[in-house]
Amino acid sequence: MNNGNVLEMNGIEKSFAGVKALSQVDFRVKGGEVHALLGANGAGKSTLMKILSGAYEADGGEIRINGQALQIRSPADAKAAGIHCVYQEVDTSLVPQLSVAENILLDRLASSRGKAWLRWGSLYAEAQKILDQLGLQVSVRQKAGSLTLAEKQLVLIARLLVEEAKFIILDEPTAPLSLEEADRLFLIVDRLKAAGIGIVFISHRLPEVFRVCDAISVMRDGRMITTEPKTNLQPGDVIRAMLGRSFDEEYPKLDASIGDVVLEVKGVAAGHRVRGVDLEVRSGEIVAVVGLVGAGKTELSRLLFGADEAERGRVTVGGKQAKLSGPAAAVASGIVLVPEERRKEGILVGESVLHNLSLPVLRPLSRMGFISGSSERKLADGMIGRLGIKTPSSGQLTGYLSGGNQQKVAIGKWMSTEADVFIFDEPTKGVDVGAKRDIFRIIGELACQGKGILYLTCEFAEALGLADRILVMCDGRIVKQFARGEATQEDLLYYASAGREELA
Ligand SMILES: Nc1ncnc2c1ncn2[C@@H]1O[C@H](COP(=O)(O)OP(=O)(O)OP(=O)(O)O)[C@@H](O)[C@H]1O
Ligand SMILES: [Mg+2]
Repeated sequence: MNNGNVLEMNGIEKSFAGVKALSQVDFRVKGGEVHALLGANGAGKSTLMKILSGAYEADGGEIRINGQALQIRSPADAKAAGIHCVYQEVDTSLVPQLSVAENILLDRLASSRGKAWLRWGSLYAEAQKILDQLGLQVSVRQKAGSLTLAEKQLVLIARLLVEEAKFIILDEPTAPLSLEEADRLFLIVDRLKAAGIGIVFISHRLPEVFRVCDAISVMRDGRMITTEPKTNLQPGDVIRAMLGRSFDEEYPKLDASIGDVVLEVKGVAAGHRVRGVDLEVRSGEIVAVVGLVGAGKTELSRLLFGADEAERGRVTVGGKQAKLSGPAAAVASGIVLVPEERRKEGILVGESVLHNLSLPVLRPLSRMGFISGSSERKLADGMIGRLGIKTPSSGQLTGYLSGGNQQKVAIGKWMSTEADVFIFDEPTKGVDVGAKRDIFRIIGELACQGKGILYLTCEFAEALGLADRILVMCDGRIVKQFARGEATQEDLLYYASAGREELA
C-alpha cells in the first residue's frame, strides 16, 4: 500500500576532514516500498542514512518529504518527521534493566514522568497489542536485557510503530541473524510495508535482497550508481554496479598440503552451551564448524582462545598442552581468534588503524625494546593493501571506518603473527562480496603456509566452498563430520537442526 508519502534526498554532499564520503547523491523512497540500499564496504550507505536520521549533518543537498523541504539537524528532527533508524548496534538503543513493555513505550513514559495517571496494567496491555500485531512472542514483562539479539531488534521495531514512523531505515539488520531469525524479521517488514511505511534496507546478502525488496539502489565510492525496480535487475548487474567490474561468486580454493595435527581438542566443556567437544585440525587444513545460531560455536571459540574458562577438557597445539588462562596465554601457545563481535572484542575503535594492525606483532617489530615506527607503518600499509581496507590513511581512527572495513582490520590484525592455529568466528559478517573473496584468499594462503584453520560459520555455502572437512555442531556438541565434497547444504541443515528437534 502506498499512502502517498515520498522521501527524497537530492544532491547530498558529505566530507570528513576533507575526505569525500558522499558526492551529489540522490535517493528516493516511497511509502509502502522496501528499498534496498547496496554497495561495497565504505561506499557511503551508512553515512547517507545517518544524514537522513539526523546523526550527521550534510554539507550540501536537500531532503524533502512529500515535496516539502526539511531541515534535519538532529535525531529529534528526523523523528519528528517520522524518520527512524535501527542501527546495527541495537544493544545501545534498548534499556536492558527495563521491561519489554517499558522499552516499547519509552518515549511516552519519558514524557509522562511524574504524572499520576500512568497505569501499569494498561501499559502492558498496549505493549502486548503491538507485539501481537508484529506476531512477536515475548513476554512484555521480561527484561529487555534477557532477550536475544533478534528479539531486541523486533522490540525496537515495535517501538517505532508506537512512534508512528513513516520511514524506517534498517542498517544491516540481518547481519547477526540466523536464516530463521531473518525470516521472522521479513514477515514483520511485510507488515510494515502493508501499513504504508517506507523501508530502507541495507544488506550484504544478495539473495534476501532479491526476495524482500521492491527497488534497489546501488552506491559506489560515495556516488549513487543506479536505482531500478528489482524486476529490472539480476544479481550480476548489482554486483557489477557495486564493484565497477564483473565478478563471479565462486570461491577459489588453494591447494595446501595437509600435514600433522596442530590442534587437538578433547572433551572441552563449559556450562550447557559447550557440552564436550572433540576435534582435530591438521597443518594446512581448513576445518569448518557449522551450526545454527545458538549451537555453541562462538562459546567454543572463546574457550579455545582462553576468553572464557573451560570446566573440563584438554587442548594441545603441536603436541604441547596449550595454556588457556586468558587470550594472551592462548596467543603465546600459538592460537589466535578473529572474534564475531568485532566492535566489542576484535578491535580498539578509539585507536588508529595502524595501531590495531600492529598491536599483536609489536614484540617482533620491536628490537631491544624499541619499536621501529617505519616497520610498523610498512606492515600496516601492506595489510591495508592486501585486504583492501578503505581508509584515507593508516593513521585514521578505526571507529571512523565503515562496518565492513572494521571487520577487515579485525582480521588483518592477526595475519602477520606467528600463530599455528587461526580461529575465525563468522569473519564475513557484514563484508561485501569482493572483500569476502579477499578474506577467503587470505585464509587459503595461511593454510598454504602450514597453519591450521578452524572456521566457524552459520553460512553453509561458505563451509562447503572453503573447508577440507566440515564438522556440524548442534546444541554444544559435534554431531557429524563430512569430508570435502561429501555433504550438501541440505545434509548440513539436517544435522544442524536434528538434535534440536530431538530436544524439543
Ligand atoms: N565519522 C567519520 N569520520 C571519518 N570518516 C568517516 C566517518 N563516518 C564514515 N566515514 C567514512 O565514510 C566512508 C563511507 O562509510 P560508510 O560507513 O557510509 O560505508 P558503508 O557503505 O556503510 O559500508 P559498510 O558496508 O562497510 O557498512 C568510509 O570511507 C568511512 O571511512
Ligand atoms: Mg555501513
